[in-house]
Amino acid sequence: MGKVYVFDHPLIQHKLTYIRDKNTGTKEFRELVDEVASLMAFEITRDLPLEEVEIETPVKLAKSKVLAGKKLGIVPILRAGLGMVDGILNLIPAAKVGHIGLYRDPATLKPVEYYVKLPSDLEEREFIVVDPMLATGGSAVEAINSLKKRGAKNIKFMCLIAAPEGVEVVKQAHPDVDIYIAALDEKLNDHGYIVPGLGDAGDRLYGTK
Ligand code: PRP
Ligand code: URA
Repeated sequence: MGKVYVFDHPLIQHKLTYIRDKNTGTKEFRELVDEVASLMAFEITRDLPLEEVEIETPVKLAKSKVLAGKKLGIVPILRAGLGMVDGILNLIPAAKVGHIGLYRDPATLKPVEYYVKLPSDLEEREFIVVDPMLATGGSAVEAINSLKKRGAKNIKFMCLIAAPEGVEVVKQAHPDVDIYIAALDEKLNDHGYIVPGLGDAGDRLYGTK
Protein backbone atom coordinates (compact mmCIF):
# COMPACT_ATOMS: atom_id res chain seq x y z
CA MET A 1 0.00 0.00 0.00
CA GLY A 2 1.22 3.52 -0.82
CA LYS A 3 2.47 5.63 2.08
CA VAL A 4 0.83 8.89 3.12
CA TYR A 5 3.09 11.70 4.33
CA VAL A 6 1.67 14.79 6.03
CA PHE A 7 4.18 17.66 6.13
CA ASP A 8 3.77 19.34 9.49
CA HIS A 9 6.75 21.69 9.08
CA PRO A 10 5.93 24.99 10.89
CA LEU A 11 6.62 27.10 7.79
CA ILE A 12 4.22 25.00 5.73
CA GLN A 13 1.53 25.11 8.43
CA HIS A 14 1.93 28.88 8.88
CA LYS A 15 1.58 29.61 5.16
CA LEU A 16 -1.31 27.20 4.84
CA THR A 17 -3.29 29.15 7.45
CA TYR A 18 -3.18 32.26 5.23
CA ILE A 19 -3.98 30.18 2.15
CA ARG A 20 -7.14 28.94 3.90
CA ASP A 21 -8.19 32.41 5.11
CA LYS A 22 -11.03 33.70 2.91
CA ASN A 23 -9.71 37.26 3.32
CA THR A 24 -6.45 36.40 1.53
CA GLY A 25 -6.59 37.94 -1.96
CA THR A 26 -5.60 36.38 -5.27
CA LYS A 27 -2.06 37.80 -5.42
CA GLU A 28 -1.10 36.68 -1.92
CA PHE A 29 -2.88 33.33 -2.37
CA ARG A 30 -0.83 32.63 -5.51
CA GLU A 31 2.43 33.59 -3.81
CA LEU A 32 1.70 31.40 -0.80
CA VAL A 33 0.76 28.36 -2.92
CA ASP A 34 4.01 28.84 -4.82
CA GLU A 35 6.03 28.98 -1.58
CA VAL A 36 4.37 25.92 -0.03
CA ALA A 37 4.91 23.97 -3.26
CA SER A 38 8.65 24.78 -3.03
CA LEU A 39 8.85 23.69 0.60
CA MET A 40 7.01 20.45 -0.17
CA ALA A 41 9.23 19.79 -3.21
CA PHE A 42 12.29 20.04 -0.99
CA GLU A 43 10.94 17.23 1.22
CA ILE A 44 9.51 15.08 -1.55
CA THR A 45 12.80 14.95 -3.49
CA ARG A 46 14.76 13.59 -0.54
CA ASP A 47 15.14 10.15 -2.14
CA LEU A 48 16.14 11.21 -5.67
CA PRO A 49 19.01 9.03 -6.91
CA LEU A 50 22.51 10.51 -7.08
CA GLU A 51 25.62 9.57 -9.02
CA GLU A 52 29.22 10.45 -8.45
CA VAL A 53 31.09 12.66 -10.92
CA GLU A 54 34.64 13.96 -10.97
CA ILE A 55 35.17 17.72 -10.91
CA GLU A 56 38.08 20.03 -10.43
CA THR A 57 37.74 22.52 -7.58
CA PRO A 58 40.19 25.44 -7.47
CA VAL A 59 42.16 23.28 -5.00
CA LYS A 60 42.16 19.72 -6.43
CA LEU A 61 40.35 17.01 -8.35
CA ALA A 62 37.38 15.76 -6.34
CA LYS A 63 34.49 13.32 -6.54
CA SER A 64 31.08 14.87 -5.92
CA LYS A 65 27.41 13.99 -6.43
CA VAL A 66 24.81 15.12 -8.98
CA LEU A 67 21.26 13.94 -9.68
CA ALA A 68 21.21 10.72 -11.71
CA GLY A 69 18.89 9.37 -14.38
CA LYS A 70 16.16 11.01 -16.45
CA LYS A 71 14.92 14.43 -15.42
CA LEU A 72 11.95 14.47 -13.06
CA GLY A 73 8.49 14.99 -14.58
CA ILE A 74 6.02 17.36 -12.90
CA VAL A 75 2.41 16.92 -13.95
CA PRO A 76 -0.07 19.56 -12.76
CA ILE A 77 -3.76 18.73 -13.00
CA LEU A 78 -5.25 21.75 -14.78
CA ARG A 79 -6.12 24.18 -13.81
CA ALA A 80 -5.38 24.59 -10.09
CA GLY A 81 -2.29 22.33 -10.22
CA LEU A 82 -0.59 24.96 -12.40
CA GLY A 83 -0.31 27.17 -9.33
CA MET A 84 2.20 24.72 -7.81
CA VAL A 85 4.51 24.28 -10.81
CA ASP A 86 6.73 27.37 -10.56
CA GLY A 87 7.42 26.72 -6.88
CA ILE A 88 8.72 23.25 -7.75
CA LEU A 89 10.68 24.50 -10.77
CA ASN A 90 12.46 27.01 -8.53
CA LEU A 91 14.16 24.03 -6.91
CA ILE A 92 14.32 21.69 -9.91
CA PRO A 93 14.60 23.96 -12.95
CA ALA A 94 15.48 21.12 -15.34
CA ALA A 95 12.32 19.12 -14.60
CA LYS A 96 10.00 18.35 -17.52
CA VAL A 97 6.41 19.51 -17.20
CA GLY A 98 3.44 17.52 -18.51
CA HIS A 99 -0.17 18.72 -18.32
CA ILE A 100 -3.38 16.84 -17.64
CA GLY A 101 -6.59 18.82 -18.03
CA LEU A 102 -9.48 17.61 -15.88
CA TYR A 103 -12.51 19.32 -14.47
CA ARG A 104 -14.91 17.94 -11.93
CA ASP A 105 -18.48 17.77 -13.23
CA PRO A 106 -20.38 19.77 -10.58
CA ALA A 107 -23.40 17.42 -10.72
CA THR A 108 -21.70 14.01 -10.69
CA LEU A 109 -18.37 15.11 -9.10
CA LYS A 110 -16.71 12.81 -11.67
CA PRO A 111 -13.59 14.08 -13.47
CA VAL A 112 -13.81 14.89 -17.17
CA GLU A 113 -10.51 14.77 -19.10
CA TYR A 114 -10.01 17.46 -21.76
CA TYR A 115 -6.23 17.68 -22.33
CA VAL A 116 -3.13 15.50 -21.99
CA LYS A 117 0.43 16.40 -23.02
CA LEU A 118 3.31 14.55 -21.39
CA PRO A 119 7.10 14.30 -21.69
CA SER A 120 8.61 11.37 -23.59
CA ASP A 121 10.22 8.26 -22.04
CA LEU A 122 7.49 7.90 -19.43
CA GLU A 123 8.71 4.43 -18.40
CA GLU A 124 12.09 5.70 -17.21
CA ARG A 125 11.00 8.93 -15.57
CA GLU A 126 9.82 9.65 -12.05
CA PHE A 127 6.64 11.79 -11.97
CA ILE A 128 5.08 14.03 -9.35
CA VAL A 129 1.40 14.73 -10.04
CA VAL A 130 0.39 17.99 -8.36
CA ASP A 131 -2.97 19.50 -7.47
CA PRO A 132 -3.77 21.69 -4.45
CA MET A 133 -6.88 19.66 -3.57
CA LEU A 134 -7.55 15.95 -3.08
CA ALA A 135 -11.30 15.85 -2.37
CA THR A 136 -13.26 12.78 -3.58
CA GLY A 137 -10.02 11.53 -5.17
CA GLY A 138 -11.61 11.19 -8.61
CA SER A 139 -9.31 13.70 -10.33
CA ALA A 140 -6.13 12.28 -8.80
CA VAL A 141 -7.09 8.69 -9.69
CA GLU A 142 -7.93 9.70 -13.26
CA ALA A 143 -4.69 11.69 -13.73
CA ILE A 144 -2.61 8.77 -12.44
CA ASN A 145 -4.59 6.37 -14.70
CA SER A 146 -3.78 8.62 -17.62
CA LEU A 147 -0.05 8.56 -16.84
CA LYS A 148 0.05 4.79 -16.24
CA LYS A 149 -1.92 4.09 -19.45
CA ARG A 150 0.89 5.83 -21.36
CA GLY A 151 3.64 3.87 -19.60
CA ALA A 152 4.59 5.78 -16.44
CA LYS A 153 5.68 3.48 -13.61
CA ASN A 154 7.07 5.70 -10.90
CA ILE A 155 4.50 8.23 -9.65
CA LYS A 156 4.02 10.35 -6.54
CA PHE A 157 1.01 12.54 -5.77
CA MET A 158 1.39 15.88 -3.99
CA CYS A 159 -1.36 18.21 -2.77
CA LEU A 160 -1.89 20.97 -0.24
CA ILE A 161 -5.11 19.79 1.40
CA ALA A 162 -6.71 16.35 1.36
CA ALA A 163 -9.93 14.83 2.69
CA PRO A 164 -9.61 11.39 4.32
CA GLU A 165 -12.17 10.02 1.81
CA GLY A 166 -10.00 11.05 -1.15
CA VAL A 167 -6.82 9.67 0.36
CA GLU A 168 -8.52 6.28 0.79
CA VAL A 169 -9.79 6.29 -2.81
CA VAL A 170 -6.31 7.01 -4.21
CA LYS A 171 -4.68 4.41 -1.93
CA GLN A 172 -7.14 1.73 -3.09
CA ALA A 173 -6.91 2.60 -6.80
CA HIS A 174 -3.13 3.14 -6.87
CA PRO A 175 -1.44 1.27 -4.01
CA ASP A 176 1.97 1.90 -5.57
CA VAL A 177 1.65 5.72 -5.36
CA ASP A 178 2.87 7.61 -2.28
CA ILE A 179 0.79 10.64 -1.31
CA TYR A 180 2.30 13.88 0.08
CA ILE A 181 -0.04 16.30 1.84
CA ALA A 182 0.43 19.61 3.67
CA ALA A 183 -2.77 19.11 5.71
CA LEU A 184 -5.23 16.26 6.15
CA ASP A 185 -8.64 17.85 6.84
CA GLU A 186 -11.81 16.56 8.51
CA LYS A 187 -14.17 15.49 5.73
CA LEU A 188 -16.07 16.38 2.55
CA ASN A 189 -19.32 18.35 2.62
CA ASP A 190 -22.42 17.47 0.56
CA HIS A 191 -21.02 19.33 -2.47
CA GLY A 192 -17.74 17.42 -2.38
CA TYR A 193 -15.82 20.37 -0.91
CA ILE A 194 -13.13 19.79 1.68
CA VAL A 195 -14.03 20.93 5.23
CA PRO A 196 -12.58 23.25 6.40
CA GLY A 197 -10.43 23.34 3.23
CA LEU A 198 -9.78 26.57 1.37
CA GLY A 199 -12.77 26.81 -0.98
CA ASP A 200 -12.31 26.43 -4.73
CA ALA A 201 -8.56 26.35 -5.40
CA GLY A 202 -8.82 27.24 -9.11
CA ASP A 203 -11.10 30.19 -8.47
CA ARG A 204 -8.93 31.53 -5.67
CA LEU A 205 -5.74 31.17 -7.74
CA TYR A 206 -7.12 32.81 -10.84
CA GLY A 207 -9.71 35.23 -9.41
CA THR A 208 -12.67 33.60 -11.14
CA LYS A 209 -16.02 32.51 -9.76
C1 PRP B 1 -10.51 20.86 -8.29
C2 PRP B 1 -9.12 20.56 -7.78
C3 PRP B 1 -8.93 19.12 -8.16
C4 PRP B 1 -10.31 18.55 -8.00
C5 PRP B 1 -10.37 17.78 -6.71
O1 PRP B 1 -10.46 21.10 -9.64
O2 PRP B 1 -8.14 21.40 -8.28
O3 PRP B 1 -8.46 18.93 -9.47
O4 PRP B 1 -11.21 19.66 -7.96
O5 PRP B 1 -11.60 17.17 -6.57
P1 PRP B 1 -11.77 15.59 -6.57
O6 PRP B 1 -10.70 15.03 -5.68
O7 PRP B 1 -13.15 15.42 -6.00
O8 PRP B 1 -11.68 15.10 -7.98
P2 PRP B 1 -11.76 21.54 -10.48
O9 PRP B 1 -12.48 20.34 -10.98
O10 PRP B 1 -12.56 22.52 -9.66
O11 PRP B 1 -11.16 22.23 -11.76
P3 PRP B 1 -10.27 23.55 -11.92
O12 PRP B 1 -8.90 23.25 -11.35
O13 PRP B 1 -10.22 23.71 -13.39
O14 PRP B 1 -10.93 24.68 -11.20
N1 URA C 1 -11.96 21.30 -5.43
C1 URA C 1 -11.61 22.46 -4.80
O1 URA C 1 -11.07 23.38 -5.43
N2 URA C 1 -11.89 22.56 -3.48
C2 URA C 1 -12.46 21.58 -2.78
O2 URA C 1 -12.67 21.74 -1.56
C3 URA C 1 -12.82 20.39 -3.46
C4 URA C 1 -12.54 20.28 -4.78
